[in-house]
Amino acid sequence: MVVNYAHRGASGYYPENTMMAFEKAVEMGCTGIETDVHMTRDGVLVLIHDEMVNRTTNGIGFVKDYNYIDLSKLDAGSWFSGEFKGAKIPTVEELLLFAKDKDIIINFEIKSGVIQYENIEQKLIETIYEHNMENRVILSSFNHYSLVKCKKISGEIKTGILYSEGLYKPEQYAKMVGADALHPHFYTLNRDIVKRIKKEGILINTYTVNDVSYMRYFIELGIDGIITNYPDKLNKIISG
Ligand code: G3P
Ligand code: CA
Repeated sequence: MVVNYAHRGASGYYPENTMMAFEKAVEMGCTGIETDVHMTRDGVLVLIHDEMVNRTTNGIGFVKDYNYIDLSKLDAGSWFSGEFKGAKIPTVEELLLFAKDKDIIINFEIKSGVIQYENIEQKLIETIYEHNMENRVILSSFNHYSLVKCKKISGEIKTGILYSEGLYKPEQYAKMVGADALHPHFYTLNRDIVKRIKKEGILINTYTVNDVSYMRYFIELGIDGIITNYPDKLNKIISG
């Protein structure tokens, strides 16, 4: 059965990467949650898409320059709509605690681009183990070296290679990186590519599929996971 990953939670309807967006996604029938991990100055792992807080909160500046106590005071809801005023930037720990008693997978995307967070992989994996969630998560990143580091720290936690452009022989590349999955932008996929990747036993979780006809197409191709802002629409298709 295809995993229905709610992209930043049910972000089509609620402010992305907030507990409300995650809770509503579960209510809508998601079976996975995709979210983005950054780290504060004092080493707290937090869930926010951008490296700066400007777009999605009432604050300014880089996540890395905030201590958690100050970051936790920011309003992460009002930018989306006034009715969500007061929503907070959640921590990795909060989401793990929320997911623990639910039948869902968490896809943590490690944001490691221009800004590199020291030991973010180690900290994230330690936190996952503290909550016994090692079999319920998949770690992804556009920084593929970060995924190599993750595999060195824990061989059992799944990793997924994020990419947005066509990748040369992605199934071979995944093996080289030691990854379990490919997380391609859906534009890069077609029937032949999916077939080739699946033949090599590599999982495919594609993003960000918001159109129902594409959702149907990828299910028909036998994709493993679909990352969407509209988990309710995908759930409707999956449930028939
Ligand atoms: O993980 C899939 C997708 O979230 C990657 O792109 O920019 O939405 O984090 P972005
Ligand atoms: Ca993401």
